[in-house]
This record gives sequence, C-alpha cells and structure tokens, in this order.
Amino acid sequence: MRLFATGVAWLGALVLATTAMAADADLGKKLWAQKCAMCHGADGKGDAKMAERLKAKIPGLGTSAGKTDSELLKAIADGKRPMPAFGKSLKSEELEAVLQHAKGLAKRLAAGK
Ligand code: HEC
Repeated sequence: MRLFATGVAWLGALVLATTAMAADADLGKKLWAQKCAMCHGADGKGDAKMAERLKAKIPGLGTSAGKTDSELLKAIADGKRPMPAFGKSLKSEELEAVLQHAKGLAKRLAAGK
C-alpha cells in the first residue's frame, strides 16, 4: 500500500513536470506572436514593413544564434533601440519562455531552414 502511494505521487509529479514544460513552450510561442512577431516576424526573419516604419534594420535572429542566454535575455529585458525593454512588462518566467522560443527560431535560421 505504501509502495502504491509512493508510485502515485511519483506519477503525479512526473505529469506535473511534463505539463509545466509544455506550457512554457506554448507560453513562449504565444508571447512571441503577441509581443515580438510584429517586428521580428513569426519566423524571426524580421518584418520588412515594420523595419521601414521604424527606419531601422531588424536583423534576422540567425545573427543571434551564437549569443549566450544571458546576452539575449539582457537584450529582451533591457531593450535594444528601437526594440522596447520587456523587463518590466513580462514576468521572469515569461521572459525565459519567450527567450527559449527566440533561441529556437535563431538556431533554425542559422541552420538555413
Ligand atoms: C519595435 C520592434 C521590436 C519588437 C516589438 C521586438 N523587437 Fe527584438 N529587436 C528589434 C530590433 C530592431 C533588434 C536589433 C537591435 C540591434 O541589434 O540593433 C532586435 C533584436 C532582438 C534580439 C537580438 C539581440 C542580440 O543582441 O542579438 C532578440 C533576441 C530579440 N530582439 C528578441 C525579441 C523578443 C523576444 C521580443 C518580444 C518579447 C522582441 N524582440 C520584440 C526590434 C523589436
């Protein structure tokens, strides 16, 4: 009986952990679409119309593929003109989720896909 209870607890923890990870990926994707895609494009290649409107270059995220998490997180949290700072409007788990999404796009672009 004791063994059974432990088993159930483990299973519960496992399910919780898996859902939390899935939620992060979903959260990152959702935030990207809401807050980032208007400039960076859904695929991270950069939105040409927005670049024109901002009179700025929006480099494809592939150029950021070699940077560390903390460098990219700093850019997202503190902003990089004309990119706004998101450090105040997003919670730390939201920043982390959207960073992971941006990194995924950056890696894909750098690999030429
Ligand atoms: C108003 C347009 C705009 C929005 C909105 C925006 N960005 Fe940017 N972002 C830029 C521009 C422009 C750059 C290039 C800045 C530079 O390096 O000169 C950039 C650069 C970046 C970089 C590369 C930083 C580096 O040092 O390599 C990352 C990562 C990034 N943005 C992520 C995000 C994320 C995540 C969001 C949404 C939470 C976001 N951006 C929203 C315009 C924007």
